[in-house]
Amino acid sequence: MATRTASILRGTLSGKTALVTGASGGIGSSIALELAYRGAQVIVSGRNRSKLEALQTKLQPCEKLSHIVAACDMRVPSSISELAKSAAADGRGVDILVNAAGVSHDSLLLRLKEKEMEEMVQVNLTGAMLLTKAVVPHMLRQKSGCIINISSVIGQHGNVGQSGYAATKAGLLGFTKSLAKELGSRGVRVNAIAPGYIDTELTRRIIEQPASRALIDRIPLQRMGTVEDVAHGAVFLAEAQYMTGQVSRHDVLHECIIPQMCEIKLISTTLAHIFCRC
Ligand SMILES: NC(=O)c1ccc[n+]([C@@H]2O[C@H](COP(=O)([O-])OP(=O)(O)OC[C@H]3O[C@@H](n4cnc5c(N)ncnc54)[C@H](OP(=O)(O)O)[C@@H]3O)[C@@H](O)[C@H]2O)c1
Repeated sequence: MATRTASILRGTLSGKTALVTGASGGIGSSIALELAYRGAQVIVSGRNRSKLEALQTKLQPCEKLSHIVAACDMRVPSSISELAKSAAADGRGVDILVNAAGVSHDSLLLRLKEKEMEEMVQVNLTGAMLLTKAVVPHMLRQKSGCIINISSVIGQHGNVGQSGYAATKAGLLGFTKSLAKELGSRGVRVNAIAPGYIDTELTRRIIEQPASRALIDRIPLQRMGTVEDVAHGAVFLAEAQYMTGQVSRHDVLHECIIPQMCEIKLISTTLAHIFCRC
């Protein structure tokens, strides 16, 4: 994807500024690239500055825009306000917000630590709500804007060993649907993406288990999703002017694989606890 050149830019998002959290990760970085390919100026955020700067280098050939790196820790409210302030610098405001920062601590509830619960709530839910609250006034003033929350099919279906993660991702869906109702009359659209099983750092530890082959065999398309699959969905939502309050699912008949995924998660969490005790 990085080999694409400016010559194939479609420019449908020219003149727009997009802020993408989780841009140092797999899905967020891919979304940032796709938005830039379509002409948006992109502010990339995360904690890992070197990864963000590497992404910024990839973004530069996309239009003659200065894409911006803005580090932020989504657990810390003051860091989120700083991010919103720097995104609004020079009279610029955010037209497209993508809340992709996310963290997952997979563990059976009885073993899930309070600080792990707290981190998931802070990053996956409260952080996204605070940042959205900070950028929405500009969208209301200009009577247009687009917010895309990266939830998960786990927030819809639930999963063994992911009760905490599922709770935050389900919360994000409720936030999306309610906010779409609050802001629709002012031209601001709010949608969510619920990815299924996407090949990134977050899922690598599951893929590496031998049992995961059986999981992939049950996926009708016989492969995991890619970050580009999700990024194309984000671009679609950024462009779809008559769509709000929706959850765009990027998976393939998740019902087919959830039971298998539960088995693998169970094996994985059980193994993790055995190792922890050793
Ligand atoms: N991969 C999947 O199968 C899958 C499926 C459904 C939903 N999702 C969701 O998709 C989103 C992206 O996940 P991914 O697969 O791309 O995972 P990833 O590669 O691990 O990326 C996670 C991103 O979240 C950021 N992040 C974590 N804690 C943060 C904090 N305290 N402050 C600021 N940023 C923080 C990370 O930034 P730093 O590393 O710089 O801290 C990183 O950019 C997440 O919301 C995830 O829940 C993923």
